[in-house]
Amino acid sequence: MRYYFAPMEGITLYPLRNTHRKMFGETIDKYYTPFLTAHHNLHFKKREKKDALPENIDIAAFDDYAHQIVPQIMANKPETFIWAAKEMAALGYREVNLNLGCPAATVTNSHKGSGLLQDTDYLDELLYGIFEGLKDEPIDISLKTRLGFSDEAEAEQLMKIYAGYPVKELTIHARVREDFYKGEPRLEAFDNAVMIYRADGGRAKICYNGNVTGNILSDVPVTNKDESYSENENNTDWMKGRDVVMSRFSDLRCYNEISAIMLGRGILSNPALARELSGGSRLTASELKEYLTLLYEGYETYIPEERNVIFKLLEHWAFLGYHFENSEKYIKAIRKARSKGEYMAAVNNIFSSCRFI
Ligand SMILES: Cc1cc2nc3c(=O)[nH]c(=O)nc-3n(C[C@H](O)[C@H](O)[C@H](O)COP(=O)(O)O)c2cc1C
Repeated sequence: MRYYFAPMEGITLYPLRNTHRKMFGETIDKYYTPFLTAHHNLHFKKREKKDALPENIDIAAFDDYAHQIVPQIMANKPETFIWAAKEMAALGYREVNLNLGCPAATVTNSHKGSGLLQDTDYLDELLYGIFEGLKDEPIDISLKTRLGFSDEAEAEQLMKIYAGYPVKELTIHARVREDFYKGEPRLEAFDNAVMIYRADGGRAKICYNGNVTGNILSDVPVTNKDESYSENENNTDWMKGRDVVMSRFSDLRCYNEISAIMLGRGILSNPALARELSGGSRLTASELKEYLTLLYEGYETYIPEERNVIFKLLEHWAFLGYHFENSEKYIKAIRKARSKGEYMAAVNNIFSSCRFI
């Protein structure tokens, strides 16, 4: 099985990709950038373009970034996607991914992300234009989709459309747009979708996405509210991860068709998740500490204000707090930190005071 690090807006930027690759990258086959929006007047926002620039890639960690990093593009017109893909090809990338999953209303209202799943005639036209326009370019096109907008039955039509194009890889987030990121993934609907895709002649590699957390396929926190920590307090049975995840998949008819699993919130919660799923050793406290230190250093080069570096780290702590037993007051101290010194002291304190689980 191959493992991918999912695109996550504002999170999987180059400081995280470089740091993760350095420490845990051996078992990750591809890292996806958060989406870059291809605007109608053919430009990227400066901040988004910066995230894809090769000069920001740690090439000691990424020895073949052309194949190890996949820029994701948000577009709703063939011309803008084609322009963006050529820009990425010029930067050396060999694959770009089309975002067909983002559920945010601002995105779907402008017929982007999962908004494109609502009008299948237009989706077909869009894909036709994209694949025609890029057929002679040295860049592969992959798709990241959901099972539908409001109903998983929509997957049938979507899969028939996808099967008509030379898609390199099809990642299916096993939810519909209206699920956003909540609830159990729709495994049966995922299974049906893959079977339909293959029956219609679709040849892309298939990647599964949705709630792979290691021990269970279940919700993991997406916010840094207090409750999100306690939700996961008993969620410590990481050693069984591999079997449980694989046994959930092995019941599916499409099991042999799945060649990759894309990890999102699960790998933010446990940066060693892909290693563990591959049968490797569990995350240790000292590894996590080193990871957080390197991440801090990485963000320092990316974000000028100390306060905002700390805010970035807090986004990670929202996913990591559950590793520490009875950690509420220590987490609060981390959240209250207003300077690097305070932040580092609070982090040292949680590592020395709480049992690591
Ligand atoms: C904060 C956040 C930002 C995300 N940004 C993107 C994005 O830029 N592009 C994308 O295709 N999916 C994005 N996603 C969706 C994830 O890639 C993934 O499909 C989703 O989290 C389900 O996987 P998981 O259950 O393993 O987290 C985002 C998810 C989260 C939680």
